[in-house]
Amino acid sequence: MSALPSPEQKPAYVNRMFAAIAPRYDLLNRVMTFGLDQGWRRFGVRYVAAARHQAPLRALDVATGTGDFLPLLHAAMPEALVVGVDFSLPMMQAGLSKVFATAGQGAYVGGDALKLPFPDNSFDAVTTGFGMRNVADLLGALREMQRVTKPGGRLACLEVAQPRSALIRWSHRLYFNKVVPLLGAVLGGNSEAYTYLPQSAAQFPPPDHLRDLLKAAGWRHIRYRLLGLGAVAVHMAEK
Ligand SMILES: C[S@@+](CC[C@H](N)C(=O)[O-])C[C@H]1O[C@@H](n2cnc3c(N)ncnc32)[C@H](O)[C@@H]1O
Repeated sequence: MSALPSPEQKPAYVNRMFAAIAPRYDLLNRVMTFGLDQGWRRFGVRYVAAARHQAPLRALDVATGTGDFLPLLHAAMPEALVVGVDFSLPMMQAGLSKVFATAGQGAYVGGDALKLPFPDNSFDAVTTGFGMRNVADLLGALREMQRVTKPGGRLACLEVAQPRSALIRWSHRLYFNKVVPLLGAVLGGNSEAYTYLPQSAAQFPPPDHLRDLLKAAGWRHIRYRLLGLGAVAVHMAEK
């Protein structure tokens, strides 16, 4: 049965879903990815932190959720203001300790990825992880991130992907469609959210298509790396 909402219903649906799973979100992520997810985020952070910086140094994590990117951005760019933006207050609240781990350099801001509450050219480094699947207008979100990035600044966008090898794809599909909803039910008390996850992943544009969308949104020098046996794509781009 489909757990996917219509585009009009998506923001309210996504907001409700993440509010429900917020307290268990980090635990489920670590278990589901066998503890690999922070390494994937670190890969993206290393790329954006190497951007040509212009004082005052600032980094932004869009659809930050429980803020897993914030301490990693702080470690890579200790002088930077590190901002996480999300429209789910319960997710950011569940991740308050991540802001404390930025030694006073971090903040959460409530806001919509489709209408970021920042002026043009504000950030040197922008990250987003596993959030783009959830926005109602993907191209609009890619454009917004481009708008708030300084010229010469960088983006790392992490999202789930379908492994290319047939055998791995088959095992991954089995794991994602059967085991993950079960883990969601047992550990998170919410199998609907973890049924939405593989279904929304199956609908998300494949990496080559996402690269084209990034180009259409005004990004340049776009490339991507597949990690986790091809189950995660990290797109890297510059403004
Ligand atoms: C799967 S979580 C990802 C959290 C985090 N980035 C990570 O790496 O684990 C997706 C997040 O996207 C947020 N989100 C979805 N649509 C959004 C929008 N239009 N504006 C802001 N946040 C949004 C949700 O509230 C949720 O916290």
